[in-house]
Amino acid sequence: MRVLVIGSGGREHALCIFINKSPICNKLFCIPGSDSIQEIADCFKIDPMNNADIVNFCKEHKIDFVVVGPELSLSNGIVDKLSEEKIKVFGPDKASSQLESSKIFMKNICKNHNVPTAKYSIFDSEKKALNFLDTINFPTVIKADGLAAGKGVIIAKNKNEAAETIKNIMSKRIFGASGENIIIEEFLEGEEISFFALVDINGFILPLTTAQDHKKIGEGDTGLNTGGMGAYSPVPFIKQNQINDFVTKFVKPVINELKHNNIFFSGVFYAGLILTKYGPKLLEINVRFGDPEAQAVLPRLKTDLLDLLIASAKGRLDQLKSPELDNNFCINVVMASKGYPESYKKNTIISGLNKITVNKSQYIFHSSTKKNEDQWLATGGRVLSISALGSTLKEARNKAYNVINEIDWKNGYYRNDIGWKHLT
Ligand code: AMP
Ligand code: GLY
Repeated sequence: MRVLVIGSGGREHALCIFINKSPICNKLFCIPGSDSIQEIADCFKIDPMNNADIVNFCKEHKIDFVVVGPELSLSNGIVDKLSEEKIKVFGPDKASSQLESSKIFMKNICKNHNVPTAKYSIFDSEKKALNFLDTINFPTVIKADGLAAGKGVIIAKNKNEAAETIKNIMSKRIFGASGENIIIEEFLEGEEISFFALVDINGFILPLTTAQDHKKIGEGDTGLNTGGMGAYSPVPFIKQNQINDFVTKFVKPVINELKHNNIFFSGVFYAGLILTKYGPKLLEINVRFGDPEAQAVLPRLKTDLLDLLIASAKGRLDQLKSPELDNNFCINVVMASKGYPESYKKNTIISGLNKITVNKSQYIFHSSTKKNEDQWLATGGRVLSISALGSTLKEARNKAYNVINEIDWKNGYYRNDIGWKHLT
């Protein structure tokens, strides 16, 4: 089978590595890919947002199956375009992708089935939003409706901060058109976890596993929000009965409500949950693998990844056994350019990467690098993503940091405390 992966980050590097291991993958392609992905897949510098060019590429290269990584490509309707051409593809269509691309859409879908989420109000006018601040308690949470690369959620400690945030989003448009509408919602307290399930077009749900991300840039979960500075899987304190509960409380009702609206979801259902003292509540839904959660989940997967993705795309998940996952923990530590998530230098040199020998329980995923002759350069904010498996979180963590210690990157920054809450 000839498989195409769309995307270029650490998540797609991981997807390529594990898809490439499948006995049914004969040839792997990636658009646009990267210098690191090029080592295992043929990369083509096609714009991942140009659906027509991707469709043409698939026809020309006789692609049998496409796997879409990033949310932007999904919400840009690549799945719809490929499906129109009868090209099999893993991931949700444009209508289903609204679960992630519009927080208001997601809330409305949840409302009709009383899916537990934070209480909220929706605003299309800055004036009304500002007036609303007189009626609520703080902290409060302000969210731009649309996609904002993980930065569109602001927790405002007081009224002044909230007012400034509303102005920044709605009139200064710091998130562009994503801030046309906003949600102001109740601040929830509790531990956050991510739950992943695969869903097929017939609505069959196959639970995968749990993970915990570390969204803040600073140690002890402080500082600015990022796309994720490290993750681990599974979450040690989550039991099987809670996983069943997540499916019943969150995934099933959302999939059913979509169906009721003639929207047929297939792909990854990634539920961002917060475990409050009143029970779990749904913070967000993403419609693709997380980055860096994928780099902590996929190394644990013993079932053939490509088989799972194809079954989801073909509506055949019910014919598969539950996916088999390694009981070991996998931890992932992100190395970012100093300064990220604000400004940072580009094209700084990363030394030592070529010399490192990793064993089969350690992985170096590249999120944003390029190769200049024999030298790896950091080209983005989140640059490398190092994973390791171990029988305890602590062992996994030590193995990941052992790899990091061999990387000589003067401009690199990473959190030293990934997994800190649950190290045993
Ligand atoms: P989201 O993109 O909706 O997951 O939000 C990003 C981050 O903001 C989450 O991971 C939470 O840490 C935080 N957050 C979002 N909504 C709330 C809420 N209602 N209460 C507390 N924290 C929140
Ligand atoms: N790591 C968070 C995300 O992928 O959305």
